[in-house]
Amino acid sequence: MNKDTKIYIAGHRGMVGSAVWRTLEKKGYTNLIGRSSKELDLKNQEAVLDFYHIEKPEVVIDAAAKVGGILANNNFPYQFLMENMQIQNNLIDSALKSGIDKFIFLGSSCIYPKFAPQPLKEEYLLTDSLEPTNEWYAIAKITGVKACQAIRKQFQKDYVSLMPTNLYGTHDNFDLKSSHVLPAMIRKFHEAKNNNHSDVVLWGSGTPMREFLFVDDMAEAVVYALENKLPEYLYNIGTGEDLTIKELAETIQEVTGHQGTIVWDADKPDGTPRKLMDISKMHNLGWKHKVDLKQGIEKTYTWFLENIENFKEVKL
Ligand SMILES: NC(=O)c1ccc[n+]([C@@H]2O[C@H](COP(=O)([O-])OP(=O)(O)OC[C@H]3O[C@@H](n4cnc5c(N)ncnc54)[C@H](OP(=O)(O)O)[C@@H]3O)[C@@H](O)[C@H]2O)c1
Repeated sequence: MNKDTKIYIAGHRGMVGSAVWRTLEKKGYTNLIGRSSKELDLKNQEAVLDFYHIEKPEVVIDAAAKVGGILANNNFPYQFLMENMQIQNNLIDSALKSGIDKFIFLGSSCIYPKFAPQPLKEEYLLTDSLEPTNEWYAIAKITGVKACQAIRKQFQKDYVSLMPTNLYGTHDNFDLKSSHVLPAMIRKFHEAKNNNHSDVVLWGSGTPMREFLFVDDMAEAVVYALENKLPEYLYNIGTGEDLTIKELAETIQEVTGHQGTIVWDADKPDGTPRKLMDISKMHNLGWKHKVDLKQGIEKTYTWFLENIENFKEVKL
């Protein structure tokens, strides 16, 4: 891959897209392009095709999606299904029609069946039913994986899908109404520390096990897929290591300097007992994450402190 290859990062202002942009810049890539959703609504098929014709990107990295938690998925199932399919269909189909040879599609571990064996292997895709709370989003993502697979099969183009585990890091969403567990905990412990080390109340028993990957490591995986022609159509991206939610809370408590008590509200649901990705396919190719969880939480907390004023205004 030449450093002046024209690379379009869809969703370049999001947590993942911005990490990919930063990483590519650091590696010397000089011809990156991005558009905000205001400048280019990816739901608009004609606009996407026009954009490709004018800008002529040589590679597309799709980090654009309508993302949200259980509540949002539950309240807006149609939008989660349809908008995600529209975004990715327009990006993928227009790329094929525009003669773009390389496309990296980002999905999520929710594409795998709810009761699939752990750790989750790529071949478990479509072997059983999905988790009902986010099946709308998951089905959209599965169609994106399948579209890229079909293009590989029929047109022999390098269209590949990467499925990340839970991601966290700089530019994360710290809005307690819609954030994921790790940034939500950072915010709760920080605020409790400033509130005279008051108790932090967390949902469930603390026993479920989860895996977390720092977003810059995700970006490195995307760069790996960019610089190498991966032999298969689908790859899990994660650390291959998990920990209990209780251990996660204790790590965040230590990093934030909170000295109060953690109270587990056992009346609240725990969710799936374990969710861990099998990442042996990427490991066998030579990619491995670099940032361990504590380091990643420290970096994220530093970013949180530096940006607290900005996102307080925007997200609350
Ligand atoms: N965060 C995680 O834990 C996680 C885990 C696994 C997989 N992923 C995957 O990684 C990808 C990126 O996630 P993220 O966490 O970076 O999400 P994010 O921070 O919400 O960013 C999503 C981006 O998509 C863009 N977008 C949404 N709708 C659009 C539209 N109609 N037209 C143009 N752009 C649109 C947004 O652009 P604007 O900012 O310009 O509006 C935004 O920059 C998603 O596919 C997600 O499934 C994320």
